[in-house]
Amino acid sequence: MSLLDVATAAFATKKPPGILALIGDTPLVEVTQLDTGPCQLFLKLENQNPTGSIKDRIALSMIEAAERDGSLQPGGTVIEATAGNTGLGLALVAGAKGYRVLLVIPDKMSQEKISHVRALGAEVRLTRSDVTRGHPEYYQDVAARLAEEIPGAFYVNQFGNPANPLAHERSTGPEIWEQMRHDVDAIVVGVGSGGTLTGLGNFFNRVKPRRGIEMVLADPTGSVLFEYVKTGKLVESGSWAVEGIGEDFIPDIADMSLVTEAYEINDEDAFAVARELLRKEGIFGGSSTGTLVAGALRYCREQTKPKRVVSFVPDTGNKYLSKMYNDFWMAEQGFMQRQPHGDLSDLISHRYEAGEVITVGPNDTLLTAFKRMRDADVSQLPVVDPGGRSIGIIDESDVLVKVHRDSTHFNDHVETAMTDRLETLPPTSKIQDLLGVFDRGRVAIVMDGDKFLGLITRTDLLSYLRRHMPKSAAPVEREFS
Ligand SMILES: Cc1ncc(COP(=O)(O)O)c(C=O)c1O
Repeated sequence: MSLLDVATAAFATKKPPGILALIGDTPLVEVTQLDTGPCQLFLKLENQNPTGSIKDRIALSMIEAAERDGSLQPGGTVIEATAGNTGLGLALVAGAKGYRVLLVIPDKMSQEKISHVRALGAEVRLTRSDVTRGHPEYYQDVAARLAEEIPGAFYVNQFGNPANPLAHERSTGPEIWEQMRHDVDAIVVGVGSGGTLTGLGNFFNRVKPRRGIEMVLADPTGSVLFEYVKTGKLVESGSWAVEGIGEDFIPDIADMSLVTEAYEINDEDAFAVARELLRKEGIFGGSSTGTLVAGALRYCREQTKPKRVVSFVPDTGNKYLSKMYNDFWMAEQGFMQRQPHGDLSDLISHRYEAGEVITVGPNDTLLTAFKRMRDADVSQLPVVDPGGRSIGIIDESDVLVKVHRDSTHFNDHVETAMTDRLETLPPTSKIQDLLGVFDRGRVAIVMDGDKFLGLITRTDLLSYLRRHMPKSAAPVEREFS
């Protein structure tokens, strides 16, 4: 036996972590608090997979298929172009089995996602987000190239890998069939790679042939899939903020002919439904859960006969706490409307009166001020006295001036370092007045008489201007699965 054979045998007999056995077999729960018309709606909780998404299933299936057909050998490298859940699933499964995992990720993806795959042991290559298919730095092209260059590499390619739909044909479909006691009328799915649609469509056509079970597509507005299903035409794609579903092309493995009905759901409705699902049903799903449930509810309410409908919670809401579940993000993106005042106070993202502003007191230490800035990811804080009056402002430079020679000054009081020459503006001021404040390197403190309303920073002004950019002028932002 050669050394390589010994190593291969040891690799093959090593027991993988038990967590892999917990992929799939997810629970199904009935929606009871939302209006489902004459229908019953059940949700399969794919957020309960080990990395929190439906993609754990395909990660396991694609890795095991590659092991079986020899395209992945002991000591090999698993490569995928992915920004999201598939990367997490692969990092878990392939990492647990001892392979090197290399993920090519577009640079617009959130730091949290990148940190998560790195924490699972994957290596990350960042690539450009602003280029499309065919450009040498497009994330899928970079991954394909790396797979050619690295010896022993296996390019997973979820968009063209038959083991992706097979995972759903062999596990998700049969689980639903059993959990519903062989009594299902419709399944509502989203399409990212198309694996779920194709796998479930194939399974249900087999157990209940001749279109016995409807396959309903819920697609984000801006994706090309809805229009393709309705008219057979491939239109120009737009942008959407829901993650994981919707496409600007038809993936190889997506059999769109399986779709019997389709709904188009905009971001605003998707986010509102996901938030309502959490509050009313206690189900903590991601943004695509909102699209799917909104589509499922529309389908249910349109029915005239009672039907048993199944949809999904494809991933966990944990991944969206700083976005869809964050009121400031929702307001900044224009998904939640506040009562407009028609003045400068509309630019304040965190309102003091509503308890949304992080402040320090004059007698707090500089260390407290610094920690609050870091935790809130801001570079300045208003200093507010016990009477609620804004008496100063402290920024990172003020702290630095005090502590750079002697760090014991972190114990000094904020009032010894703050700026009390305040740039205050009444809400009736103009945007031009704000620019003057910013030019002097300050942030604007908005005061209505004696009443402190909040701060306006350059970022607040930029966000406001972006929100008011005409839709026709907004560039298309692409989604990465
Ligand atoms: C977050 C997320 N990822 C992936 C999928 C499934 O996509 P596919 O199987 O088409 O890749 C869904 C489907 O709803 C989803 O919501």
